[in-house]
Amino acid sequence: MSTRADAGRPAPGTKGADGATAAKGAGRPKPAPKSVTVLVPAAGSGSRMGGRIKKQFLLLNGLPVLAHTLRRFENMPEVCEVIPIVPEPELEECLEMCVDGQGLRKVRRVVPGGRERQDSVRNGLMAMEPPGDWVMVHDGVRPFVTREMVSALIIALDGCDGAVLAVPAKDTLKEVGPDRLVRRTLDRRFLWHIQTPQAFPYRVIAEAFRKAYADGFYGTDEASLVERYGGSVRVVAGSYANIKITTPEDMVLAEAILAGLAGAEVRAAGKAGCEK
Ligand code: C5P
Repeated sequence: MSTRADAGRPAPGTKGADGATAAKGAGRPKPAPKSVTVLVPAAGSGSRMGGRIKKQFLLLNGLPVLAHTLRRFENMPEVCEVIPIVPEPELEECLEMCVDGQGLRKVRRVVPGGRERQDSVRNGLMAMEPPGDWVMVHDGVRPFVTREMVSALIIALDGCDGAVLAVPAKDTLKEVGPDRLVRRTLDRRFLWHIQTPQAFPYRVIAEAFRKAYADGFYGTDEASLVERYGGSVRVVAGSYANIKITTPEDMVLAEAILAGLAGAEVRAAGKAGCEK
């Protein structure tokens, strides 16, 4: 396991992390700030993208997709540490391409991934020392995560075992058999596409992973492990722009979203200038 020296470790947790609780509890003593560690699995083979370069290392506006994702957490005061989980053979290369020179103060160690995504996340959980209060898991190939999403998840965790970002299904979804015949049409009103980040108290996700490995259970996301052991998971409405880069068309979409964001930032900066 490769670790990096801890340069200038910021104090865990921030004003933002407990902002919601503090607002509710006006007059009461302020609770201790909680720390959020973000695990960023990026150790997949990216086979659906085709091509020689893994999707997490494809360049988006000159920067690897993973570097975009990691940079997003840098300015979120709620987040105290970010742990990328990358393919073992490319660990050093990944450090050079996505971490070094990016000014990423919150990335203090890089962890090798495992065979399945769940194995990669487990490696990340085991690398957390000392474990923080809350864990968020976020796909390395979702470069448009925002501070608003992270804050909303923290608020949603209150009274729950987990909170996940999601968007309502837009298309009709059908269950189809291996013979390509439709088995049934699902009721779209109750269907959501689940995204990341997914947020959990550390003790909840650690216990769910322990049980899942004892049972030999593999899920396609972390919440499914928590659900399997009776945990309550709340859905938070996210954004259709929080795409997971999976196929070549997604890179075209990502370029467009990035250009739109840059335009919005320029307009906001212009407005701020006028307001002075
Ligand atoms: O395969 P999928 O698109 O669902 O992967 C989501 C994220 O999980 C990607 O960022 C991918 O790199 C990561 N992953 C991983 N380890 C694996 C498989 C996928 O970290 N063994």
